[in-house]
Amino acid sequence: MNEPIIFHGNNIDLLREMPENSVDSIVTDPPYELGFMGKKWDSTGIAYSVELWSECLRVLKHGGHLLAFSGSRTYHRMTVAIEDAGFEIRDQIMWVYGSGFPKSLDVSKAIDKQAGAERQVIGSRPLTGNGKTMKSGFHQPDGSGAGETIKQDVFEFTAPATDEAQQWSGWGTALKPAHEPIVMARKPLGEKTVAENVLRHGTGAINIDGCRVEASDSFGGGAKGTSGFADGYAHDGWVAGSSLGRFPANFIHDGLNEEWARFFYCAKASKAERNAGLEALPAQFAPTMKNGIGMKEHDPETATPKQNFHPTVKPIALMRYLVRMVTPPNGTVLDPFTGSGTTLVAAVLENFNSIGMEMTAEYMPIITGRLDWALNQNQQPDSLFDI
Ligand SMILES: C[S@@+](CC[C@H](N)C(=O)[O-])C[C@H]1O[C@@H](n2cnc3c(N)ncnc32)[C@H](O)[C@@H]1O
Repeated sequence: MNEPIIFHGNNIDLLREMPENSVDSIVTDPPYELGFMGKKWDSTGIAYSVELWSECLRVLKHGGHLLAFSGSRTYHRMTVAIEDAGFEIRDQIMWVYGSGFPKSLDVSKAIDKQAGAERQVIGSRPLTGNGKTMKSGFHQPDGSGAGETIKQDVFEFTAPATDEAQQWSGWGTALKPAHEPIVMARKPLGEKTVAENVLRHGTGAINIDGCRVEASDSFGGGAKGTSGFADGYAHDGWVAGSSLGRFPANFIHDGLNEEWARFFYCAKASKAERNAGLEALPAQFAPTMKNGIGMKEHDPETATPKQNFHPTVKPIALMRYLVRMVTPPNGTVLDPFTGSGTTLVAAVLENFNSIGMEMTAEYMPIITGRLDWALNQNQQPDSLFDI
């Protein structure tokens, strides 16, 4: 494996400099185009650019796969652009988690506020973690109760003051976010069949056995012993007569529900994981919110300075699973939206070559620090961020 190659600059310009048919996979986390945390890079429309995805198609080998994350509200526009660029849309993987919180406007409270009516406080409860950063007027993380002014560590429950607010009590404007879709697309084959394409170009297939989900005892564990179908796979996803585990599904979860044990598990990235390798970097505060008010003012605890202050760091285990799924042995993974470098870290830990592109200068030291850490890791299967 070679050290990752990182380019600082605009990805469309950089991609144009790359030879065609030169990478084996593209695994990337483009902007969701929601203006997250007030970041300009998250609202340029680049994820919807057919030109960008056409360049990705050009540099990818025939039959090579593209995996790209998106937001639940913007996935469709990105996916159409990917399709219009010439990719075949093969699947949609869902990354499902329980840790999101709703940004739902409390309609009852908004009505009272508009009427200038003061609501009576009828109870309170302590707030922890992300719950402390909720804005006035929004529902709580668990979706319960009506939003009210949050005074530091306490959430106050209030009663509707006007008849209209009483009528609309319990109504909001948004659901709790619990999934992020990942489009799985493929550059059309260069040969007549997948078999020919795999033999000629090394691309066109996905690594099923490399991504099998270990079976737990509660699901029978070990070999299930089946008669199997002609392709060697049993109807419930077990390989015939083997203990390799369950067939990888287009669903990934954070493990909050035991019933999901049959699917690949991945929690959100921990603080330790995000900052690994960055001990020498100065800690900085998280980016400001869209309204220009610093996170620090909202919640001093969750807005402690961080070495890795990138706002959208993906878990290493998730990215390892995804790069392994679509990259052939000794292959090269490209991430044109590198961010803090998680895809490249994953590629290093999975022994792939990798190329990253990132236009925001302040993330470059984070990328290099994390990559140095990854390159120094011994490949213990039970290491902290392994899967
Ligand atoms: C969603 S973040 C990726 C986060 C990454 N998955 C991680 O774990 O850190 C998207 C990144 O793409 C970068 N970006 C946006 N537009 C770009 C462009 N045209 N060229 C290069 N980088 C770009 C942004 O600066 C941002 O860091």
